[in-house]
Amino acid sequence: MRILVIGSGAREHALLLALRRDPQVTGLIIAPGNAGTARLAEQHDVDISSGDDIVALARNVRADMVVIGPEVPLVLGVADMVRAAGIVCFGPSKDAARIEGSKAFAKEVMAAAGVHTARSETVDRPAHLDAALDRFGPPAGDPAWVVKDDRLAAGKGVVVTPDRDVARTHAAGLLEAGHPVLLESYLDGPEVSLFCVVDGRTVVPLLPAQDFKRVGDGDTGPNTGGMGAYAPLPWLPDEVCQQVVTRIVEPVAAELVQRGSPFCGLLYVGLAITANGPAVVEFNCRFGDPETQAVLALLDSPLGQLLYASGTGTLADFGELRWRAGAAVTVVLAAENYPGRPRVGDIIFGSEADGVLHAGTTRRDDGTIVSSGGRVLSVVATGADLLAARAHAYRILRSIRLLGSHFRNDIALSAAEGKIHI
Ligand code: GLY
Repeated sequence: MRILVIGSGAREHALLLALRRDPQVTGLIIAPGNAGTARLAEQHDVDISSGDDIVALARNVRADMVVIGPEVPLVLGVADMVRAAGIVCFGPSKDAARIEGSKAFAKEVMAAAGVHTARSETVDRPAHLDAALDRFGPPAGDPAWVVKDDRLAAGKGVVVTPDRDVARTHAAGLLEAGHPVLLESYLDGPEVSLFCVVDGRTVVPLLPAQDFKRVGDGDTGPNTGGMGAYAPLPWLPDEVCQQVVTRIVEPVAAELVQRGSPFCGLLYVGLAITANGPAVVEFNCRFGDPETQAVLALLDSPLGQLLYASGTGTLADFGELRWRAGAAVTVVLAAENYPGRPRVGDIIFGSEADGVLHAGTTRRDDGTIVSSGGRVLSVVATGADLLAARAHAYRILRSIRLLGSHFRNDIALSAAEGKIHI
């Protein structure tokens, strides 16, 4: 089976590494990729928002399946165009991808499916903002305001703050830019990312993971696309994952089938484990980054065959997934000033070691690898337990040099020390 992977992040690098382990995968192609993925697959340039270009490339490289990594092409309907061309695609249709593309749509689906989530309100006019702010945050008994961009924002559109002025400024800025704002009640409890491969009604969960969204140690500073992750979660009882599948993911998948837009691809559920049980923070329509790097490092089942089963509607016959023993930790190395406008164009030393996945990197004509984005590299390591996996990941990370770069020092630390309780 020849597989074309669309994307250029560490998530796609991790997908290639896992696909390579599948004995039925005979060819791997990546577009547009980065300096690290070029070593693993035939690499082509492509405009990821152009369905026509992706279909032409898929035909040109004789792909049996296209796997779409990022949300932007999915929300634009690229998976529909690939399927219309008669090529198997892993990734939801434009209609189903609205579960990530519009938070208001996701709330509507959850309400119809009876799923536990935060109370919310969409504000689309500045004149309505102050009254809406009074119905959330401390005036409404919540510890903080949760203000979200209703549109795609690469993880950076969310502000959680006890300060009304900060909440108001963020919301007003979004409204001024023409983006509706979602205000939500605060969900208290440790967060979990559960990725589920779905083909309409059949749901196959992967290992649960936890990511770290704030830029600084101790969950300080602004939100990012994700600074690290680990899997599995020693503090999460197995029955909670099963509950999430039966009470949340299956009803949402069934609701989307009922609406005529079945979800086929990776349904990512972001949850808070509250005192009242798991509650949905968000849905995404694709593999999460950086959790994918940790989760796929532990997958023993053949990933190409799993994704193909989703793309062909045969997931019910796939059987139970197999996992490697132990734990995996991934830590992101970010460029100076990320999540603000990142410094780019600096030479990276040590980026070709085992366990170093690339995201914002480019290889220059002289062979040097330079930074070209905010999240530059993602180091992933496994070990017998979280302490061993962390030690291994940080050892690799400390051998990399990039001027001005930064990373969190506390990825998976609380979990490794047994300090997370639900
Ligand atoms: N880990 C957050 C995301 O992928 O959106």
